Amino acid sequence: MPGPIFSIDVPATSANLGPGFDCFGLALQLYNKFLFQVINDEPGKLVFRSNLHLKQNPRTNLVYKAYCFTLKCIGYPTIPGLDVSVISDIPSARGLGSSATAVVAGVLAAGAVSKTNLRLSEAIEIATEIEGHPDNVAPAILGGMTVSIQDKNGVYSQKLDWPEELTVLVGIPDTKVRTQSARRVLPKTVSFEDAVFNLGRSSLLISSLLTKDWRGLNIAMQDKLHQNARASLIPGFNRIITKVLECGAIGCVLSGSGPCILSVVDNSNPLAVEMSSNTIVSIWKNAKIDSEVKQLKVQKSTTKVKKLSPEEFQKFVGPHWTEKILIT
Ligand code: HSE
Repeated sequence: MPGPIFSIDVPATSANLGPGFDCFGLALQLYNKFLFQVINDEPGKLVFRSNLHLKQNPRTNLVYKAYCFTLKCIGYPTIPGLDVSVISDIPSARGLGSSATAVVAGVLAAGAVSKTNLRLSEAIEIATEIEGHPDNVAPAILGGMTVSIQDKNGVYSQKLDWPEELTVLVGIPDTKVRTQSARRVLPKTVSFEDAVFNLGRSSLLISSLLTKDWRGLNIAMQDKLHQNARASLIPGFNRIITKVLECGAIGCVLSGSGPCILSVVDNSNPLAVEMSSNTIVSIWKNAKIDSEVKQLKVQKSTTKVKKLSPEEFQKFVGPHWTEKILIT
């Protein structure tokens, strides 16, 4: 018997923002839409549809994994059956937090289905336990720019407003880099100098955003902890960073673990927006990689679960569903 229907639009996120490895994150107005319908009387059942070819195994289906894990965390006695439909606009394995959207959707769905008033901090805590680091899941839940750290006592996450004056450009290449591979290339230890380098820059980045003084932003977004090691996975990476800054962008970094590249441009400089975008596409084209650049607004509000009527739900169901997977 079909039960209530919910929808959750979870935003893309760009983690690290240069020096804030596993700590900073920014929510962007590009979404994965998750539709959930409770299947009453069939505990444990999962019906999964998507406009993408996603993993079919329930043990590796992140939405289902997060849903079951959250129900367990909140002490809910059963796993109500779930019909999940995903309309994905966020390309996967590009450093835009697509796996975090699945985790966040599963966590929030569990809160809604169990009628548990999950606090945002609890949702972040649970989602971080699944994802392993808080920098994508925190902005995916809170919106805005977030600063998050994970401690043995829990996750501490704070939200800042992203300045209206700053535009975000995301260069999206037609190649994928899995986060696990991009974490494997990281150094096991870093020098004291490099630690100090990132500490100062991440502090300057936060104070630049709070005081709206962007004069040192290109310096504040530099990093010595992860980008150098990852540059080898992304053709043209160093050249793009250098050239985009020469075009007038005021910051240019790897988005999450890549391969997307995020640039920050002052709104009052439309020429820099155009030149930076063309530069990214042309450098990747020379490396025989197709790409596109999206100018994205920051998602300011928190991610909400909305109740849908069956009629509203029907509007989304259509021929674009490429798979219908049944897991019982
Ligand atoms: N902080 C993580 C990393 C983000 O850089 O590996 C993954 O999206």
